[in-house]
Amino acid sequence: MNNTQRTVRVLTQRPYEVVIGPGVLERAQAFIERRSGAFIVLTDENVEPLYLEGLGLSDKERVLTVPPGEGTKSFEHLERVLDFMAAGGLDRASFLVALGGGVIGDLGSLAASLYMRGVEVVQCPTTLLSQVDSSVGGKTAVNLQAGKNLAGSFHQPCAVFADTRTLASLESEEFRSGLGEVVKSALIGDKELLARLEGETIALLDRDPELLGEIVERCVGVKRAIVERDEREAGDRKKLNLGHTFAHAIERVAGYGTVPHGIAVGTGLVLALEASQQSGTLRDGTLPERVRRLLDTLGIPVSLPVLRRRYDVALPGEDLLDAMRLDKKGTAGMPRFILVAEIGEVAVDCELEPGLLAQRFE
Ligand SMILES: NC(=O)c1ccc[n+]([C@@H]2O[C@H](COP(=O)([O-])OP(=O)(O)OC[C@H]3O[C@@H](n4cnc5c(N)ncnc54)[C@H](O)[C@@H]3O)[C@@H](O)[C@H]2O)c1
Repeated sequence: MNNTQRTVRVLTQRPYEVVIGPGVLERAQAFIERRSGAFIVLTDENVEPLYLEGLGLSDKERVLTVPPGEGTKSFEHLERVLDFMAAGGLDRASFLVALGGGVIGDLGSLAASLYMRGVEVVQCPTTLLSQVDSSVGGKTAVNLQAGKNLAGSFHQPCAVFADTRTLASLESEEFRSGLGEVVKSALIGDKELLARLEGETIALLDRDPELLGEIVERCVGVKRAIVERDEREAGDRKKLNLGHTFAHAIERVAGYGTVPHGIAVGTGLVLALEASQQSGTLRDGTLPERVRRLLDTLGIPVSLPVLRRRYDVALPGEDLLDAMRLDKKGTAGMPRFILVAEIGEVAVDCELEPGLLAQRFE
Protein backbone atom coordinates (compact mmCIF):
# COMPACT_ATOMS: atom_id res chain seq x y z
CA MET A 1 0.00 0.00 0.00
CA ASN A 2 1.21 3.45 -0.88
CA ASN A 3 1.40 5.78 2.13
CA THR A 4 2.03 9.19 0.64
CA GLN A 5 2.14 11.97 3.19
CA ARG A 6 1.64 15.50 1.91
CA THR A 7 2.33 18.86 3.51
CA VAL A 8 0.65 22.18 2.74
CA ARG A 9 2.12 25.34 4.30
CA VAL A 10 -0.42 28.00 5.20
CA LEU A 11 1.22 31.42 5.15
CA THR A 12 -1.07 33.33 7.47
CA GLN A 13 0.31 35.91 9.88
CA ARG A 14 1.64 32.96 11.88
CA PRO A 15 2.35 30.24 9.30
CA TYR A 16 1.62 26.59 9.99
CA GLU A 17 1.70 23.23 8.27
CA VAL A 18 -1.13 20.91 7.35
CA VAL A 19 0.17 17.34 7.20
CA ILE A 20 -2.10 15.00 5.24
CA GLY A 21 -2.14 11.26 4.59
CA PRO A 22 -2.44 7.78 6.04
CA GLY A 23 -0.78 7.46 9.45
CA VAL A 24 -0.10 11.13 10.19
CA LEU A 25 -1.55 10.79 13.72
CA GLU A 26 1.86 9.31 14.57
CA ARG A 27 3.41 12.55 13.38
CA ALA A 28 0.97 14.41 15.63
CA GLN A 29 2.12 12.32 18.57
CA ALA A 30 5.77 13.18 17.85
CA PHE A 31 4.87 16.88 17.46
CA ILE A 32 3.07 16.90 20.82
CA GLU A 33 5.91 15.09 22.57
CA ARG A 34 8.46 17.56 21.19
CA ARG A 35 6.59 20.57 22.54
CA SER A 36 7.15 21.71 26.07
CA GLY A 37 4.12 22.88 28.02
CA ALA A 38 1.07 21.19 29.45
CA PHE A 39 -1.84 20.29 27.19
CA ILE A 40 -5.28 18.77 27.11
CA VAL A 41 -6.92 16.69 24.41
CA LEU A 42 -10.53 17.41 23.51
CA THR A 43 -12.39 14.65 21.73
CA ASP A 44 -15.88 13.14 21.47
CA GLU A 45 -17.40 9.84 22.57
CA ASN A 46 -17.29 8.31 19.07
CA VAL A 47 -13.73 9.31 18.26
CA GLU A 48 -12.09 8.57 21.63
CA PRO A 49 -12.32 4.76 21.49
CA LEU A 50 -11.17 4.73 17.85
CA TYR A 51 -8.28 7.18 17.67
CA LEU A 52 -7.14 8.47 21.05
CA GLU A 53 -4.66 5.60 21.22
CA GLY A 54 -3.18 6.82 17.93
CA LEU A 55 -1.90 9.87 19.81
CA GLY A 56 -0.03 7.56 22.19
CA LEU A 57 -1.27 9.24 25.37
CA SER A 58 -0.69 7.46 28.62
CA ASP A 59 -2.27 10.12 30.85
CA LYS A 60 -6.05 9.90 30.42
CA GLU A 61 -6.49 12.72 32.95
CA ARG A 62 -5.54 15.12 30.21
CA VAL A 63 -8.44 13.99 28.03
CA LEU A 64 -11.87 15.59 27.99
CA THR A 65 -14.43 13.54 26.08
CA VAL A 66 -17.68 15.29 25.20
CA PRO A 67 -20.89 14.01 23.56
CA PRO A 68 -20.82 13.90 19.76
CA GLY A 69 -22.92 16.19 17.61
CA GLU A 70 -23.77 19.78 16.83
CA GLY A 71 -25.45 20.27 20.24
CA THR A 72 -21.98 20.21 21.80
CA LYS A 73 -21.07 23.49 20.08
CA SER A 74 -22.66 25.37 22.99
CA PHE A 75 -21.70 27.77 25.76
CA GLU A 76 -22.30 25.01 28.27
CA HIS A 77 -19.62 22.81 26.70
CA LEU A 78 -17.32 25.76 26.06
CA GLU A 79 -17.37 26.47 29.78
CA ARG A 80 -16.70 22.80 30.50
CA VAL A 81 -13.61 22.84 28.27
CA LEU A 82 -12.31 26.07 29.84
CA ASP A 83 -12.86 24.69 33.35
CA PHE A 84 -11.04 21.51 32.37
CA MET A 85 -8.10 23.53 31.10
CA ALA A 86 -7.96 25.48 34.35
CA ALA A 87 -8.28 22.32 36.47
CA GLY A 88 -5.39 20.79 34.48
CA GLY A 89 -3.20 23.76 35.47
CA LEU A 90 -2.73 24.98 31.89
CA ASP A 91 -0.88 28.26 31.52
CA ARG A 92 -0.12 30.57 28.63
CA ALA A 93 2.53 28.22 27.24
CA SER A 94 0.05 25.33 27.17
CA PHE A 95 -1.97 24.06 24.25
CA LEU A 96 -5.10 22.14 23.32
CA VAL A 97 -5.28 19.20 20.93
CA ALA A 98 -8.62 18.90 19.10
CA LEU A 99 -9.13 15.27 18.00
CA GLY A 100 -12.39 14.85 16.11
CA GLY A 101 -14.66 16.40 13.51
CA GLY A 102 -15.63 20.02 12.91
CA VAL A 103 -17.61 20.21 16.15
CA ILE A 104 -14.56 19.35 18.25
CA GLY A 105 -12.31 21.59 16.12
CA ASP A 106 -14.62 24.60 16.35
CA LEU A 107 -15.32 24.20 20.08
CA GLY A 108 -11.71 23.36 20.99
CA SER A 109 -10.19 26.20 19.05
CA LEU A 110 -12.67 28.71 20.49
CA ALA A 111 -11.74 27.51 23.99
CA ALA A 112 -8.03 27.80 23.08
CA SER A 113 -8.55 31.33 21.77
CA LEU A 114 -10.24 32.37 25.04
CA TYR A 115 -8.18 30.57 27.67
CA MET A 116 -5.82 33.13 29.23
CA ARG A 117 -6.51 35.29 26.16
CA GLY A 118 -5.24 32.63 23.82
CA VAL A 119 -3.20 29.44 23.85
CA GLU A 120 -2.26 27.30 20.87
CA VAL A 121 -4.40 24.65 19.28
CA VAL A 122 -3.28 21.56 17.34
CA GLN A 123 -5.99 20.25 15.04
CA CYS A 124 -6.28 16.51 14.40
CA PRO A 125 -9.38 16.36 12.17
CA THR A 126 -11.00 12.94 11.77
CA THR A 127 -13.92 13.63 9.40
CA LEU A 128 -13.65 14.40 5.71
CA LEU A 129 -15.39 17.72 6.28
CA SER A 130 -12.96 18.78 8.97
CA GLN A 131 -9.93 17.63 6.94
CA VAL A 132 -10.90 19.48 3.77
CA ASP A 133 -12.33 22.56 5.42
CA SER A 134 -12.94 23.34 9.07
CA SER A 135 -9.53 22.48 10.58
CA VAL A 136 -7.77 25.01 8.34
CA GLY A 137 -8.29 28.77 8.35
CA GLY A 138 -8.82 29.53 12.02
CA LYS A 139 -12.57 30.04 12.30
CA THR A 140 -13.88 28.96 15.69
CA ALA A 141 -17.45 29.01 16.99
CA VAL A 142 -20.31 27.87 19.14
CA ASN A 143 -23.98 28.19 18.19
CA LEU A 144 -26.56 30.52 19.74
CA GLN A 145 -30.33 30.05 19.90
CA ALA A 146 -30.50 32.82 17.31
CA GLY A 147 -28.28 31.02 14.82
CA LYS A 148 -25.36 28.83 13.97
CA ASN A 149 -21.77 29.91 14.66
CA LEU A 150 -22.91 33.30 15.96
CA ALA A 151 -20.30 33.40 18.75
CA GLY A 152 -16.71 32.79 17.71
CA SER A 153 -13.28 34.13 16.93
CA PHE A 154 -10.41 33.80 14.49
CA HIS A 155 -7.66 31.64 15.92
CA GLN A 156 -5.32 29.82 13.54
CA PRO A 157 -4.02 26.40 14.62
CA CYS A 158 -0.27 25.94 15.14
CA ALA A 159 -0.40 22.66 13.19
CA VAL A 160 -2.94 20.37 11.51
CA PHE A 161 -2.60 16.58 11.18
CA ALA A 162 -5.21 15.10 8.84
CA ASP A 163 -4.90 11.31 9.00
CA THR A 164 -6.84 9.97 6.02
CA ARG A 165 -6.92 6.49 7.61
CA THR A 166 -9.46 7.78 10.11
CA LEU A 167 -11.93 8.35 7.26
CA ALA A 168 -12.47 4.58 6.92
CA SER A 169 -14.65 4.47 10.05
CA LEU A 170 -16.92 7.39 9.17
CA GLU A 171 -20.65 6.69 8.78
CA SER A 172 -21.52 6.99 5.10
CA GLU A 173 -23.76 9.98 5.82
CA GLU A 174 -20.82 11.80 7.43
CA PHE A 175 -18.54 10.86 4.56
CA ARG A 176 -21.06 12.24 2.06
CA SER A 177 -21.29 15.38 4.14
CA GLY A 178 -17.56 15.94 3.59
CA LEU A 179 -18.03 15.38 -0.12
CA GLY A 180 -20.45 18.34 -0.23
CA GLU A 181 -17.63 20.61 0.95
CA VAL A 182 -15.20 18.94 -1.49
CA VAL A 183 -17.45 19.83 -4.44
CA LYS A 184 -17.71 23.37 -3.05
CA SER A 185 -13.90 23.68 -2.98
CA ALA A 186 -13.68 22.48 -6.58
CA LEU A 187 -16.23 25.08 -7.72
CA ILE A 188 -14.48 27.88 -5.90
CA GLY A 189 -11.04 27.24 -7.28
CA ASP A 190 -10.01 23.90 -8.78
CA LYS A 191 -11.25 22.89 -12.23
CA GLU A 192 -9.08 19.77 -12.25
CA LEU A 193 -10.51 18.66 -8.93
CA LEU A 194 -14.05 18.78 -10.32
CA ALA A 195 -12.98 16.66 -13.30
CA ARG A 196 -11.14 14.22 -10.97
CA LEU A 197 -14.27 13.83 -8.84
CA GLU A 198 -16.40 13.18 -11.93
CA GLY A 199 -13.91 10.64 -13.27
CA GLU A 200 -13.20 8.83 -10.00
CA THR A 201 -16.54 8.53 -8.27
CA ILE A 202 -16.18 4.78 -7.68
CA ALA A 203 -12.72 5.03 -6.09
CA LEU A 204 -13.98 8.05 -4.16
CA LEU A 205 -16.99 6.24 -2.73
CA ASP A 206 -14.68 3.28 -1.93
CA ARG A 207 -12.63 5.79 0.07
CA ASP A 208 -9.40 4.99 -1.71
CA PRO A 209 -6.86 6.43 0.78
CA GLU A 210 -4.44 7.71 -1.87
CA LEU A 211 -7.19 9.49 -3.78
CA LEU A 212 -8.52 10.93 -0.52
CA GLY A 213 -5.05 12.22 0.33
CA GLU A 214 -4.88 14.02 -3.00
CA ILE A 215 -8.39 15.42 -2.60
CA VAL A 216 -7.76 16.69 0.93
CA GLU A 217 -4.52 18.31 -0.29
CA ARG A 218 -6.30 20.03 -3.20
CA CYS A 219 -9.15 21.31 -1.02
CA VAL A 220 -6.72 22.60 1.60
CA GLY A 221 -4.84 24.24 -1.28
CA VAL A 222 -7.97 26.11 -2.40
CA LYS A 223 -8.72 27.24 1.14
CA ARG A 224 -5.11 28.16 1.90
CA ALA A 225 -4.84 30.48 -1.08
CA ILE A 226 -8.00 32.36 -0.07
CA VAL A 227 -7.25 32.51 3.66
CA GLU A 228 -3.75 33.83 2.98
CA ARG A 229 -5.24 36.72 1.01
CA ASP A 230 -7.98 37.45 3.52
CA GLU A 231 -7.43 35.94 6.96
CA ARG A 232 -10.37 37.64 8.69
CA GLU A 233 -13.02 37.56 5.98
CA ALA A 234 -12.96 41.18 4.89
CA GLY A 235 -13.72 40.17 1.29
CA ASP A 236 -12.23 37.31 -0.68
CA ARG A 237 -12.72 34.73 2.07
CA LYS A 238 -16.48 35.06 1.74
CA LYS A 239 -16.11 32.89 -1.38
CA LEU A 240 -15.68 29.92 0.94
CA ASN A 241 -19.31 30.41 1.94
CA LEU A 242 -20.61 29.36 -1.48
CA GLY A 243 -23.92 27.54 -0.92
CA HIS A 244 -23.88 28.43 2.79
CA THR A 245 -26.66 31.04 2.93
CA PHE A 246 -28.99 28.28 1.75
CA ALA A 247 -27.28 25.62 3.86
CA HIS A 248 -27.43 27.51 7.14
CA ALA A 249 -31.13 28.23 6.61
CA ILE A 250 -31.77 24.53 5.90
CA GLU A 251 -29.83 23.43 9.00
CA ARG A 252 -31.58 25.96 11.22
CA VAL A 253 -35.13 25.26 10.06
CA ALA A 254 -34.63 21.47 10.08
CA GLY A 255 -33.14 21.76 13.61
CA TYR A 256 -29.37 21.67 14.05
CA GLY A 257 -27.97 18.18 13.63
CA THR A 258 -30.90 16.89 11.52
CA VAL A 259 -29.27 17.55 8.15
CA PRO A 260 -25.45 17.20 8.26
CA HIS A 261 -23.70 20.47 7.43
CA GLY A 262 -21.93 19.31 4.26
CA ILE A 263 -25.11 17.72 2.89
CA ALA A 264 -26.93 21.04 3.38
CA VAL A 265 -23.97 22.72 1.63
CA GLY A 266 -24.26 20.26 -1.29
CA THR A 267 -27.94 21.04 -1.82
CA GLY A 268 -27.10 24.72 -1.25
CA LEU A 269 -24.58 24.56 -4.11
CA VAL A 270 -27.28 23.46 -6.54
CA LEU A 271 -29.59 26.26 -5.33
CA ALA A 272 -26.75 28.79 -5.65
CA LEU A 273 -25.93 27.60 -9.18
CA GLU A 274 -29.58 27.78 -10.23
CA ALA A 275 -29.83 31.28 -8.76
CA SER A 276 -26.61 32.23 -10.58
CA GLN A 277 -28.14 31.05 -13.82
CA GLN A 278 -31.47 32.79 -13.32
CA SER A 279 -29.88 36.06 -12.28
CA GLY A 280 -27.66 36.04 -15.39
CA THR A 281 -24.39 35.73 -13.43
CA LEU A 282 -23.48 32.26 -14.69
CA ARG A 283 -21.24 32.15 -17.78
CA ASP A 284 -20.55 28.40 -17.84
CA GLY A 285 -24.07 27.09 -18.50
CA THR A 286 -22.93 23.45 -18.21
CA LEU A 287 -22.13 23.77 -14.51
CA PRO A 288 -25.56 23.30 -12.86
CA GLU A 289 -26.17 20.00 -14.65
CA ARG A 290 -22.59 18.77 -14.10
CA VAL A 291 -22.78 19.53 -10.40
CA ARG A 292 -26.29 18.05 -10.05
CA ARG A 293 -25.11 14.83 -11.72
CA LEU A 294 -21.98 14.59 -9.58
CA LEU A 295 -23.77 15.28 -6.30
CA ASP A 296 -26.51 12.83 -7.19
CA THR A 297 -23.93 10.08 -7.84
CA LEU A 298 -22.33 10.91 -4.51
CA GLY A 299 -25.69 10.55 -2.76
CA ILE A 300 -26.30 14.20 -1.93
CA PRO A 301 -29.86 15.59 -2.46
CA VAL A 302 -29.89 17.83 -5.51
CA SER A 303 -33.12 19.68 -4.73
CA LEU A 304 -35.13 20.78 -1.72
CA PRO A 305 -37.96 18.26 -2.38
CA VAL A 306 -35.42 15.39 -2.38
CA LEU A 307 -33.78 16.72 0.78
CA ARG A 308 -37.18 17.13 2.50
CA ARG A 309 -38.08 13.50 1.71
CA ARG A 310 -34.67 12.09 2.64
CA TYR A 311 -34.61 13.73 6.09
CA ASP A 312 -38.36 13.76 6.65
CA VAL A 313 -38.42 17.51 7.30
CA ALA A 314 -41.04 20.06 6.17
CA LEU A 315 -38.68 23.03 5.56
CA PRO A 316 -41.45 25.53 4.64
CA GLY A 317 -40.21 28.19 2.19
CA GLU A 318 -41.33 31.03 4.49
CA ASP A 319 -39.30 29.64 7.40
CA LEU A 320 -36.22 29.30 5.19
CA LEU A 321 -36.57 32.93 4.12
CA ASP A 322 -36.92 34.06 7.75
CA ALA A 323 -33.83 32.06 8.71
CA MET A 324 -31.85 33.66 5.89
CA ARG A 325 -32.63 37.13 7.16
CA LEU A 326 -30.71 36.19 10.34
CA ASP A 327 -27.68 34.94 8.44
CA LYS A 328 -24.35 36.51 9.42
CA LYS A 329 -23.58 37.20 5.78
CA GLY A 330 -26.60 39.51 5.48
CA THR A 331 -26.91 43.10 6.58
CA ALA A 332 -30.08 44.80 7.86
CA GLY A 333 -32.14 41.66 7.29
CA MET A 334 -31.14 41.30 3.62
CA PRO A 335 -29.58 37.92 2.94
CA ARG A 336 -26.44 37.95 0.78
CA PHE A 337 -25.42 35.22 -1.61
CA ILE A 338 -22.33 33.99 -3.38
CA LEU A 339 -23.02 33.48 -7.06
CA VAL A 340 -20.95 31.64 -9.65
CA ALA A 341 -19.83 32.83 -13.09
CA GLU A 342 -17.58 29.83 -13.80
CA ILE A 343 -15.25 27.55 -11.85
CA GLY A 344 -12.87 29.78 -9.92
CA GLU A 345 -14.88 32.93 -10.52
CA VAL A 346 -17.52 33.64 -7.90
CA ALA A 347 -19.10 36.92 -6.81
CA VAL A 348 -19.68 37.65 -3.12
CA ASP A 349 -22.28 39.84 -1.37
CA CYS A 350 -24.94 39.44 -4.06
CA GLU A 351 -28.58 40.20 -3.41
CA LEU A 352 -31.29 38.14 -5.06
CA GLU A 353 -34.58 39.45 -6.25
CA PRO A 354 -37.24 38.19 -3.73
CA GLY A 355 -39.39 36.45 -6.38
CA LEU A 356 -36.39 34.55 -7.67
CA LEU A 357 -35.46 33.54 -4.15
CA ALA A 358 -38.98 32.32 -3.31
CA GLN A 359 -38.90 30.12 -6.44
CA ARG A 360 -35.80 28.33 -5.14
CA PHE A 361 -37.79 27.25 -2.08
CA GLU A 362 -40.68 25.56 -3.81
N1 LIG B 1 -14.43 26.38 11.26
C1 LIG B 1 -14.76 26.28 10.01
O1 LIG B 1 -14.15 26.92 9.13
C2 LIG B 1 -15.86 25.36 9.60
C3 LIG B 1 -16.05 25.04 8.25
C4 LIG B 1 -17.02 24.10 7.92
C5 LIG B 1 -17.78 23.53 8.92
N2 LIG B 1 -17.58 23.86 10.22
C6 LIG B 1 -18.36 23.25 11.30
O2 LIG B 1 -18.03 21.85 11.34
C7 LIG B 1 -19.10 21.16 11.99
C8 LIG B 1 -19.37 19.87 11.26
O3 LIG B 1 -18.21 19.09 11.29
P1 LIG B 1 -18.28 17.50 11.01
O4 LIG B 1 -19.09 17.26 9.80
O5 LIG B 1 -16.91 17.01 11.09
O6 LIG B 1 -19.20 16.98 12.20
P2 LIG B 1 -18.93 16.33 13.63
O7 LIG B 1 -17.75 16.88 14.29
O8 LIG B 1 -20.24 16.39 14.34
O9 LIG B 1 -18.63 14.81 13.25
C9 LIG B 1 -19.64 14.03 12.65
C10 LIG B 1 -19.85 12.72 13.38
O10 LIG B 1 -18.80 11.83 13.04
C11 LIG B 1 -18.21 11.29 14.23
N3 LIG B 1 -16.81 11.05 13.88
C12 LIG B 1 -15.81 11.94 13.77
N4 LIG B 1 -14.72 11.36 13.26
C13 LIG B 1 -15.02 10.07 13.06
C14 LIG B 1 -14.33 8.96 12.53
N5 LIG B 1 -13.09 9.08 12.05
N6 LIG B 1 -14.95 7.75 12.48
C15 LIG B 1 -16.23 7.62 12.92
N7 LIG B 1 -16.96 8.63 13.40
C16 LIG B 1 -16.36 9.85 13.47
C17 LIG B 1 -18.46 12.34 15.28
O11 LIG B 1 -18.43 11.78 16.56
C18 LIG B 1 -19.85 12.82 14.89
O12 LIG B 1 -20.82 11.94 15.39
C19 LIG B 1 -20.29 22.11 11.97
O13 LIG B 1 -20.51 22.55 13.28
C20 LIG B 1 -19.84 23.25 11.09
O14 LIG B 1 -20.41 24.48 11.46
C21 LIG B 1 -16.63 24.76 10.57
